[in-house]
Amino acid sequence: MTDVNALETEILAAIDAAADEAALEAVRVGALGKKGTISEKMKTLGGMSAEERQVMGPALNGLKSAVTDAIAARRQVLKRAAIEERLKTETVDVTLPVRASPAEAGRIHPISQVVDEITAIFSDMGFAIAEGPDIETDYYNFTALNFPEGHPAREMHDTFFFNEKEEGERMLLRTHTSPVQIRTMENQKPPIRIVIPGKTYRCDSDATHSPMFHQLEGLVIDKSANVANLKWVLEEFCKSFFEVDQLKMRFRPSFFPFTEPSLEVDIQCDRSGTEVKFGEGGDWMEILGCGMVHPNVLRLSGLDPDVYQGFAWGIGIDRIAMLKYGMPDLRAFFDADARWIAHYGFRPLDIPTLFGGLSS
Ligand code: DAH
Repeated sequence: MTDVNALETEILAAIDAAADEAALEAVRVGALGKKGTISEKMKTLGGMSAEERQVMGPALNGLKSAVTDAIAARRQVLKRAAIEERLKTETVDVTLPVRASPAEAGRIHPISQVVDEITAIFSDMGFAIAEGPDIETDYYNFTALNFPEGHPAREMHDTFFFNEKEEGERMLLRTHTSPVQIRTMENQKPPIRIVIPGKTYRCDSDATHSPMFHQLEGLVIDKSANVANLKWVLEEFCKSFFEVDQLKMRFRPSFFPFTEPSLEVDIQCDRSGTEVKFGEGGDWMEILGCGMVHPNVLRLSGLDPDVYQGFAWGIGIDRIAMLKYGMPDLRAFFDADARWIAHYGFRPLDIPTLFGGLSS
């Protein structure tokens, strides 16, 4: 019996001393495993006299269950301690800044940003977006827009022509987005309210001209569209785009073959500081051309000028982007310099909306 007591004391001490679950398992195998100390003792019961067995049987069973219980209790303690330990080493500092996602590393080009801003503004005014091909025919780029054959205005466009086809026709890179006016009028019945953002091409290159550049054309056709409507649309657009409450505009007479009357628009600005400010100051800056659609253009597009009338305008997107975001050299737009885009580009998830802010 003293044997059994001594064994119990020894095993319980080992259980208490087990520092982790692996050590505890070793103690369990050493006591209760096939060749464990308790199991070995159990095996001796068969060789005992009946009286001896009556004493030793319950004593060994008592020992076995005491050890089993002690192991289970110790296991619980060790499990909890292991969890505590993990929690201590795996803490998360929720005050650390969020790691930037790969999408955050990219930047939206200012041209894409400004096109998104412009389309947000005109969509809000009820305009649809239209598009047309970059490679045009002479008819859509010039003739249908009332440029007579041999008219000097054709030369002013510094057109890139393709080689002549066999029948003698020459395709060209469109010099403006105006041909899409014609394509739209041919395919849609008035009322028409569209804006046309797109690439345009002219053989010209310096700090403010690039052979490929971008324009935004606008066209409104219905039975009553007039110059007052035109002025209102452009004024609302300029205020929204430049994000100012007030903006004076100046309309000067001009000439475009496809409009009559034709106007050029200057906006009020302040050029006294290093940066141009809009909506204040005593300076003017030209930003777009516009006018009432010429009756010949309506006629050539299949509309009766005695029934329909409308207005149109064309803005240089690159130019207003440069003005709004203070970018001095247009050529940098197309240099694909990662440092430039990192500086002037826009965060990809900041999509311009009128309610969320265009450029914030
Ligand atoms: N297409 C003209 C250009 O590229 C710009 C323009 C002026 C467009 C007046 C228009 C307009 O629609 O009415 O110089």
